[in-house]
Amino acid sequence: MTQLETALAKADENIPAALDRLFELLRIESISTDPAYAEECVKAADWLVAELTDIGFKAERRDTPGHPMVVAHSGGEGRHMLFYGHYDVQPVDPLDLWDRPPFDPAIEDTPKGKVIRARGASDDKGQLMTFIEACRAWKETTGELPGNISILFEGEEESGSPSLIPFLKENADELKADIALVCDTGLWDENTPAISTMLRGLVGEDFTIHAASKDLHSGMYGGPAVNPINVLTRILAGLQDDDYRITLPGFYDGVPEVPAEIKKQWEGLNFDGEAFLNEVGLSKPAGEPAYSALEQIWARPTCDINGIIGGYTGEGFKTVLPAEASAKVSFRLVGTQDPEKISASFRKYVRDNLPEDCSVTFREKDGAGATTLPVEAEEFALARDALSAEWPNEAIFAGCGGSIPIVGHFQEILGMDSVLIGFGQDDDQIHSPNEKYALRSFEKGVRSWVRVLDAL
Ligand code: BES
Ligand code: MN
Ligand code: MN
Repeated sequence: MTQLETALAKADENIPAALDRLFELLRIESISTDPAYAEECVKAADWLVAELTDIGFKAERRDTPGHPMVVAHSGGEGRHMLFYGHYDVQPVDPLDLWDRPPFDPAIEDTPKGKVIRARGASDDKGQLMTFIEACRAWKETTGELPGNISILFEGEEESGSPSLIPFLKENADELKADIALVCDTGLWDENTPAISTMLRGLVGEDFTIHAASKDLHSGMYGGPAVNPINVLTRILAGLQDDDYRITLPGFYDGVPEVPAEIKKQWEGLNFDGEAFLNEVGLSKPAGEPAYSALEQIWARPTCDINGIIGGYTGEGFKTVLPAEASAKVSFRLVGTQDPEKISASFRKYVRDNLPEDCSVTFREKDGAGATTLPVEAEEFALARDALSAEWPNEAIFAGCGGSIPIVGHFQEILGMDSVLIGFGQDDDQIHSPNEKYALRSFEKGVRSWVRVLDAL
């Protein structure tokens, strides 16, 4: 047996114990956005430090003004690789839509095979553990951790990473490596691994329109008194035209057309937009009619209203004319769209459309631009071949509709590119009730990293 074969066998043999370890981490309620769970985030960080220390890393919890980071080094020789994942998770509500408690993980049988059910199973605890378990398998095979590996685990990814940029700047020398490895994305399909080579950026806007000094009776004041919800909805409706084109001046600056060659490659993937939508109870692709569903997800910007707050929303009916109304709007960015310019254009549009007697306040939010990764770099071909050896189909280079802001910060602050490899699936219900991770994703995920580490 070659060393690689021995390490793969070790990885397989370790699966029951590896699941026990993952379940311990999944039981920790590390919801980063809600301050009530701050202690749980510390607990998750400490758990990871202990886990990494156990397999021979020099690991530390690094406190920040927000939730702690975990930093570890193997101290080996060779190509320096920085692995990144996040231990924080999204909130679990609405809780009544879960079929089991979100922090009580279990293996469940489903028509599509066994799954690990829990909040964070796929995003991102199950994924980051695939890498740790691969390191363990190598350690048990050779007696040494595999090469020159550093690890960064974040606890604020799901809540806008407020501590991340200062942390990267302060620890740049320690964290800069030849390449970053990030496990927070998905497979192309259950038999086809993917390396994501583009990520969309994100701008979030959270604002309130204020009108009268107090809530009013709509019979007594309705008509002459301006209604901030009416104003808000008119402003929101104006963000897109009938062809789903976003109307903000300058919004499409820096949005490239996909090169013909890449477009052809994407068409060759035979993505079925209608089948994709059928899975979630929809049938017909909306959005810009000139672009396929896949192109819309990977290469077009969006504007989505994520929440509207205002007025009376309780049982029954109340003829109130509210004093204020709020909304949360987000834009996914592509190409070289500039998050600051888009934020400024949005805020100007809102202010320009405010009637007399209304004012607006914006909450401060950080944005991040889209990221494109250099697939020509050596690490990409090596990782691609390693993945192809593990899965039934060859690995593809894919886009990704989601956002992982750290990948851009790694480029800008540390001058380091990232290879994005992940084993999530479209139906993992990340951020939603009943999140799951296919058991096969976990098992083959560990084996995939065993191979990638060997190749790199
Ligand atoms: N792991 C996701 C990103 C992702 C989503 C990758 C879907 C592949 C498919 C990540 O944890 C995430 O949720 N990112 C947020 C951004 C963040 C700033 C809140 C997102 O994309 O909304
Ligand atoms: Mn994630
Ligand atoms: Mn997420």
